[in-house]
Amino acid sequence: MGHPTTVALVVAAGNGTRTGAALPKQFASLGGRPVLAHSYRAFASHPQIDRVLVVIGQGQQALLAAALGDVECVVGGDTRRESVLRGLEYLKNDGISRVLVHDAARPLLPHAVIDRLLAALDEDVAALPVLGVVDTILSTRKTHAGDVVPRAGLARVQTPQAFDFPTLFAAHQAWPAEREATDDAQMVRAAGSDVRLVEGDPMLEKITVANDFATAELRLNGAMQVR
Ligand code: CTP
Ligand code: MG
Repeated sequence: MGHPTTVALVVAAGNGTRTGAALPKQFASLGGRPVLAHSYRAFASHPQIDRVLVVIGQGQQALLAAALGDVECVVGGDTRRESVLRGLEYLKNDGISRVLVHDAARPLLPHAVIDRLLAALDEDVAALPVLGVVDTILSTRKTHAGDVVPRAGLARVQTPQAFDFPTLFAAHQAWPAEREATDDAQMVRAAGSDVRLVEGDPMLEKITVANDFATAELRLNGAMQVR
Protein backbone atom coordinates (compact mmCIF):
# COMPACT_ATOMS: atom_id res chain seq x y z
CA MET A 1 0.00 0.00 0.00
CA GLY A 2 1.18 3.52 -0.79
CA HIS A 3 0.74 6.42 1.58
CA PRO A 4 -2.67 8.10 1.85
CA THR A 5 -3.20 10.60 -0.97
CA THR A 6 -3.34 14.17 0.30
CA VAL A 7 -4.69 16.96 -1.91
CA ALA A 8 -4.69 20.72 -1.45
CA LEU A 9 -7.82 22.41 -2.81
CA VAL A 10 -7.12 26.12 -3.31
CA VAL A 11 -10.28 28.15 -3.89
CA ALA A 12 -9.58 31.11 -6.16
CA ALA A 13 -12.91 31.64 -7.92
CA GLY A 14 -13.95 34.86 -6.19
CA ASN A 15 -14.17 38.36 -7.65
CA GLY A 16 -12.48 40.20 -4.80
CA THR A 17 -15.21 42.84 -4.74
CA ARG A 18 -14.15 44.35 -1.42
CA THR A 19 -10.68 45.30 -2.68
CA GLY A 20 -12.34 47.72 -5.13
CA ALA A 21 -9.91 46.67 -7.91
CA ALA A 22 -10.89 45.30 -11.32
CA LEU A 23 -8.41 42.41 -11.11
CA PRO A 24 -9.51 39.72 -8.63
CA LYS A 25 -7.14 39.85 -5.64
CA GLN A 26 -5.85 36.27 -6.08
CA PHE A 27 -4.26 37.35 -9.39
CA ALA A 28 -2.88 40.68 -8.15
CA SER A 29 0.82 40.97 -7.40
CA LEU A 30 2.28 40.51 -3.95
CA GLY A 31 6.04 40.96 -3.80
CA GLY A 32 6.30 40.45 -7.58
CA ARG A 33 4.28 37.24 -7.79
CA PRO A 34 0.51 36.72 -8.01
CA VAL A 35 -1.16 36.15 -4.64
CA LEU A 36 -2.30 32.70 -5.77
CA ALA A 37 1.25 31.67 -6.69
CA HIS A 38 2.38 32.07 -3.07
CA SER A 39 -0.05 29.61 -1.49
CA TYR A 40 0.12 27.28 -4.48
CA ARG A 41 3.87 26.97 -4.03
CA ALA A 42 3.54 26.50 -0.26
CA PHE A 43 1.53 23.35 -0.95
CA ALA A 44 3.46 22.21 -4.01
CA SER A 45 6.72 22.37 -2.06
CA HIS A 46 5.39 20.48 0.97
CA PRO A 47 6.59 16.85 1.04
CA GLN A 48 3.26 15.48 2.31
CA ILE A 49 1.07 17.20 -0.32
CA ASP A 50 0.66 14.95 -3.36
CA ARG A 51 -1.48 17.12 -5.59
CA VAL A 52 -2.79 20.70 -5.78
CA LEU A 53 -6.11 21.55 -7.44
CA VAL A 54 -7.03 25.20 -8.05
CA VAL A 55 -10.67 26.27 -8.30
CA ILE A 56 -11.03 29.32 -10.55
CA GLY A 57 -13.93 31.45 -11.77
CA GLN A 58 -15.58 31.19 -15.15
CA GLY A 59 -13.34 32.98 -17.66
CA GLN A 60 -10.30 33.11 -15.35
CA GLN A 61 -8.29 30.47 -17.30
CA ALA A 62 -5.98 33.04 -18.91
CA LEU A 63 -5.32 34.71 -15.56
CA LEU A 64 -4.48 31.34 -14.03
CA ALA A 65 -2.14 30.45 -16.88
CA ALA A 66 -0.36 33.79 -16.50
CA ALA A 67 -0.03 33.25 -12.75
CA LEU A 68 1.02 29.60 -12.63
CA GLY A 69 1.32 28.15 -16.11
CA ASP A 70 -0.38 24.84 -16.84
CA VAL A 71 -1.75 23.56 -13.52
CA GLU A 72 -4.69 21.35 -12.65
CA CYS A 73 -7.88 23.42 -12.25
CA VAL A 74 -11.65 23.25 -12.19
CA VAL A 75 -14.27 26.01 -12.52
CA GLY A 76 -16.02 27.00 -9.27
CA GLY A 77 -19.43 28.45 -8.43
CA ASP A 78 -21.12 31.64 -7.29
CA THR A 79 -20.22 31.17 -3.62
CA ARG A 80 -17.16 29.87 -1.80
CA ARG A 81 -19.15 26.85 -0.63
CA GLU A 82 -20.12 25.98 -4.21
CA SER A 83 -16.53 26.43 -5.37
CA VAL A 84 -15.28 23.95 -2.75
CA LEU A 85 -18.02 21.50 -3.71
CA ARG A 86 -17.05 21.69 -7.40
CA GLY A 87 -13.50 20.83 -6.42
CA LEU A 88 -14.59 17.91 -4.24
CA GLU A 89 -16.84 16.57 -7.01
CA TYR A 90 -13.92 16.75 -9.45
CA LEU A 91 -11.79 14.69 -7.05
CA LYS A 92 -14.39 12.26 -5.72
CA ASN A 93 -13.39 9.19 -7.73
CA ASP A 94 -9.63 9.57 -7.30
CA GLY A 95 -9.21 7.69 -4.03
CA ILE A 96 -8.22 10.82 -2.09
CA SER A 97 -7.88 10.23 1.66
CA ARG A 98 -7.14 13.75 2.96
CA VAL A 99 -7.95 17.21 1.62
CA LEU A 100 -6.77 20.64 2.76
CA VAL A 101 -9.13 23.43 1.69
CA HIS A 102 -7.46 26.82 1.44
CA ASP A 103 -8.38 30.40 0.50
CA ALA A 104 -6.14 31.68 -2.32
CA ALA A 105 -6.54 35.06 -0.61
CA ARG A 106 -4.30 33.83 2.27
CA PRO A 107 -1.01 33.76 0.35
CA LEU A 108 1.51 33.43 3.19
CA LEU A 109 1.22 29.86 4.37
CA PRO A 110 3.94 28.47 6.66
CA HIS A 111 4.75 24.77 6.25
CA ALA A 112 4.49 24.44 10.03
CA VAL A 113 0.73 25.05 9.83
CA ILE A 114 0.35 22.27 7.24
CA ASP A 115 2.42 20.00 9.52
CA ARG A 116 0.16 20.73 12.51
CA LEU A 117 -3.01 20.11 10.48
CA LEU A 118 -1.82 16.79 9.07
CA ALA A 119 -0.72 15.62 12.52
CA ALA A 120 -4.16 16.54 13.89
CA LEU A 121 -5.81 14.43 11.17
CA ASP A 122 -4.20 11.38 12.78
CA GLU A 123 -6.51 12.02 15.76
CA ASP A 124 -9.69 13.49 14.25
CA VAL A 125 -11.46 13.66 10.87
CA ALA A 126 -11.14 17.45 10.70
CA ALA A 127 -8.78 20.18 11.89
CA LEU A 128 -8.54 23.93 11.51
CA PRO A 129 -6.07 26.65 12.47
CA VAL A 130 -7.21 29.31 14.92
CA LEU A 131 -5.83 32.43 16.55
CA GLY A 132 -6.92 33.72 19.92
CA VAL A 133 -8.94 36.89 20.26
CA VAL A 134 -6.90 39.66 21.86
CA ASP A 135 -9.16 42.68 21.50
CA THR A 136 -12.14 43.33 23.72
CA ILE A 137 -15.20 42.17 21.79
CA LEU A 138 -18.36 44.22 22.07
CA SER A 139 -21.88 43.60 21.03
CA THR A 140 -23.24 46.84 19.59
CA ARG A 141 -26.50 48.75 19.83
CA LYS A 142 -26.49 50.78 16.61
CA THR A 143 -24.39 53.84 17.56
CA HIS A 144 -23.54 52.82 21.14
CA ALA A 145 -21.72 50.08 22.96
CA GLY A 146 -23.56 47.02 24.14
CA ASP A 147 -22.17 44.36 26.44
CA VAL A 148 -18.66 42.95 26.33
CA VAL A 149 -18.59 39.40 24.95
CA PRO A 150 -16.28 37.18 27.06
CA ARG A 151 -13.39 36.37 24.71
CA ALA A 152 -11.96 33.42 26.61
CA GLY A 153 -14.01 30.89 24.67
CA LEU A 154 -13.61 32.56 21.27
CA ALA A 155 -11.21 31.99 18.39
CA ARG A 156 -10.53 33.45 14.94
CA VAL A 157 -10.69 30.86 12.19
CA GLN A 158 -8.16 30.60 9.36
CA THR A 159 -7.50 28.26 6.46
CA PRO A 160 -6.21 25.77 5.35
CA GLN A 161 -8.74 23.47 6.97
CA ALA A 162 -7.91 19.77 6.81
CA PHE A 163 -10.30 16.87 6.44
CA ASP A 164 -10.74 13.21 5.88
CA PHE A 165 -11.95 13.46 2.27
CA PRO A 166 -15.08 11.26 2.49
CA THR A 167 -16.15 13.08 5.68
CA LEU A 168 -15.93 16.52 4.06
CA PHE A 169 -17.60 15.39 0.84
CA ALA A 170 -20.51 13.85 2.77
CA ALA A 171 -20.86 17.00 4.91
CA HIS A 172 -21.03 19.19 1.79
CA GLN A 173 -23.65 16.96 0.23
CA ALA A 174 -25.76 17.05 3.39
CA TRP A 175 -25.61 20.88 3.68
CA PRO A 176 -28.78 22.72 2.51
CA ALA A 177 -28.10 24.29 -0.91
CA GLU A 178 -29.73 27.60 0.04
CA ARG A 179 -27.73 28.01 3.26
CA GLU A 180 -24.43 29.87 3.11
CA ALA A 181 -21.29 28.79 4.94
CA THR A 182 -18.09 30.83 5.26
CA ASP A 183 -15.86 27.85 5.92
CA ASP A 184 -15.90 24.07 5.66
CA ALA A 185 -15.33 22.98 9.24
CA GLN A 186 -18.78 24.26 10.23
CA MET A 187 -20.34 21.79 7.77
CA VAL A 188 -18.40 18.89 9.23
CA ARG A 189 -19.48 19.97 12.73
CA ALA A 190 -23.09 20.19 11.57
CA ALA A 191 -22.77 16.65 10.26
CA GLY A 192 -21.77 15.51 13.75
CA SER A 193 -17.97 15.19 13.64
CA ASP A 194 -15.45 16.77 15.98
CA VAL A 195 -13.11 19.41 14.54
CA ARG A 196 -9.70 19.62 16.20
CA LEU A 197 -8.11 23.05 16.78
CA VAL A 198 -4.48 23.69 15.91
CA GLU A 199 -2.53 26.88 16.31
CA GLY A 200 -2.88 29.25 13.36
CA ASP A 201 -0.38 31.88 12.25
CA PRO A 202 -0.63 35.68 11.84
CA MET A 203 1.05 35.25 8.42
CA LEU A 204 -2.17 33.60 7.24
CA GLU A 205 -4.31 36.72 7.55
CA LYS A 206 -6.68 36.99 4.59
CA ILE A 207 -6.37 39.74 1.98
CA THR A 208 -9.84 41.26 1.98
CA VAL A 209 -9.56 45.02 1.34
CA ALA A 210 -7.00 46.99 -0.71
CA ASN A 211 -4.98 47.99 2.34
CA ASP A 212 -4.32 44.35 3.22
CA PHE A 213 -1.82 44.14 0.35
CA ALA A 214 0.51 46.56 2.14
CA THR A 215 0.32 44.54 5.35
CA ALA A 216 0.94 41.30 3.47
CA GLU A 217 4.01 42.85 1.75
CA LEU A 218 5.41 43.75 5.17
CA ARG A 219 4.84 40.21 6.42
CA LEU A 220 6.39 38.77 3.27
CA ASN A 221 9.49 40.92 3.64
CA GLY A 222 9.89 39.97 7.26
CA ALA A 223 9.36 43.55 8.35
CA MET A 224 6.45 42.41 10.47
CA GLN A 225 7.71 39.86 12.91
CA VAL A 226 5.55 36.85 13.60
CA ARG A 227 5.72 36.11 17.30
N1 CTP B 1 -14.02 32.12 -3.47
C1 CTP B 1 -14.29 31.15 -4.44
N2 CTP B 1 -15.50 31.16 -5.08
C2 CTP B 1 -16.43 32.09 -4.80
C3 CTP B 1 -16.16 33.07 -3.80
C4 CTP B 1 -14.94 33.05 -3.15
O1 CTP B 1 -13.44 30.30 -4.71
N3 CTP B 1 -17.58 32.08 -5.48
C5 CTP B 1 -12.69 32.13 -2.84
C6 CTP B 1 -11.96 33.45 -3.06
O2 CTP B 1 -11.28 33.43 -4.33
C7 CTP B 1 -11.03 33.52 -1.87
C8 CTP B 1 -11.76 32.71 -0.78
O3 CTP B 1 -12.83 32.03 -1.44
O4 CTP B 1 -9.78 32.93 -2.13
C9 CTP B 1 -12.27 33.59 0.34
O5 CTP B 1 -13.29 34.43 -0.14
P1 CTP B 1 -13.29 36.02 -0.06
O6 CTP B 1 -12.19 36.52 0.76
O7 CTP B 1 -14.68 36.44 0.27
O8 CTP B 1 -12.95 36.42 -1.59
P2 CTP B 1 -13.88 37.07 -2.68
O9 CTP B 1 -15.24 36.44 -2.61
O10 CTP B 1 -13.16 36.99 -3.96
O11 CTP B 1 -13.93 38.59 -2.20
P3 CTP B 1 -15.23 39.50 -1.98
O12 CTP B 1 -16.10 38.75 -0.99
O13 CTP B 1 -14.70 40.79 -1.45
O14 CTP B 1 -15.88 39.63 -3.34
MG1 MG C 1 -16.46 36.65 -0.82
